[in-house]
Amino acid sequence: MKKKFWASSFTCLLLIAASVFSAENEKKKTYRDDPDEPLAPGSAMREEFTPGSWTLAVVPDIQNQTHFCPGVSMAQTAWLIQNRERFNLIHALYLGDLTNHDAPWQWENCQAAISLLDGKLPYALVTGNHDYHPDGASRDTRINEYFPVKTFADRPTFGGVMEEGRIENSYHLFEAGGRKWIVLALEWAPRDKTVDWANDIMLKHSDRYGILVTHAYLFDDSLRYDHKTRQQRWNPHDYKTPPPINDGQELWDKLVRKHNFAFVLCGHVCNSGVGYQADKNDAGQTVHQILSNYQFRDLGGEGYMRLMEFLPDGKTVKIRTYSPLWDRLLTSPEQQFTIELDPLPAKSNTEIDPLSKISP
Ligand SMILES: [Fe+2]
Repeated sequence: MKKKFWASSFTCLLLIAASVFSAENEKKKTYRDDPDEPLAPGSAMREEFTPGSWTLAVVPDIQNQTHFCPGVSMAQTAWLIQNRERFNLIHALYLGDLTNHDAPWQWENCQAAISLLDGKLPYALVTGNHDYHPDGASRDTRINEYFPVKTFADRPTFGGVMEEGRIENSYHLFEAGGRKWIVLALEWAPRDKTVDWANDIMLKHSDRYGILVTHAYLFDDSLRYDHKTRQQRWNPHDYKTPPPINDGQELWDKLVRKHNFAFVLCGHVCNSGVGYQADKNDAGQTVHQILSNYQFRDLGGEGYMRLMEFLPDGKTVKIRTYSPLWDRLLTSPEQQFTIELDPLPAKSNTEIDPLSKISP
């Protein structure tokens, strides 16, 4: 009997070891965009930074990391803190869907990860559909219980919010690379009054380069969400979110094309989770519209995020997709590419906000 027990235990151990080995091999396959593409070497970012550059960190939908693997989100923030000086990180931008169900325990996980940045690296948050309950069918979110506006107020880059005590719509100001920037962070499915507020803020800061951050804007066909003319899954108009709602095309028409936005950054879309579209605004400047999302990968996203390196020439921006968890870059052309910024128009509608705060 004893002999039989040890024999079956040994067999069991062999099976576990074989399954672990097999799972490891299987995982290695999924870490790569293209099985024929060599893996980036260890310490992937070591050779990748140009002295004199500055960097923005863009963190797409962490909802599944928050839900299933909160340590992965902590690995992201820990890496950002540890590498802040090395990459001259100026700001982090979260693209929404911070939780899966707007559940308190999920916000606790999310807060534990993101608040590591407090006092170390400024960040902007937006809400995604999953940050409202139930299932995006309301405008009710618990984000303000876990990320109260008062905790942002003393930060050097914080500009203000649309509604007192609510962080869903905020703006942030900083100077980097010899240019003045404004980050406009807008709620899921922005309401008409949100768009009106955003227009006012951009007019007040029209001497700055704009970065619009909002959860749903571009689909992975690299076209803006447009419920009037296109069949694109997960359009904000397809949800039960109380109207009015503005999708990507409506935001372009009512807001983006009128101002000095250099970037629109968004997440939300699965499928490939990536997209890029450049369009000229009304002043003839290029607006780079970029979708990134990794929520469907292993471990809720494997910690992949975008690092946007702004080179010292003042116009070149290198966009990379990096996981501090694996120390790996995704190097396919959709994940790693370079764009060029246009100069600001010679005559801009300058009305500088005397209250604007500039970070070093
Ligand atoms: Fe979403």
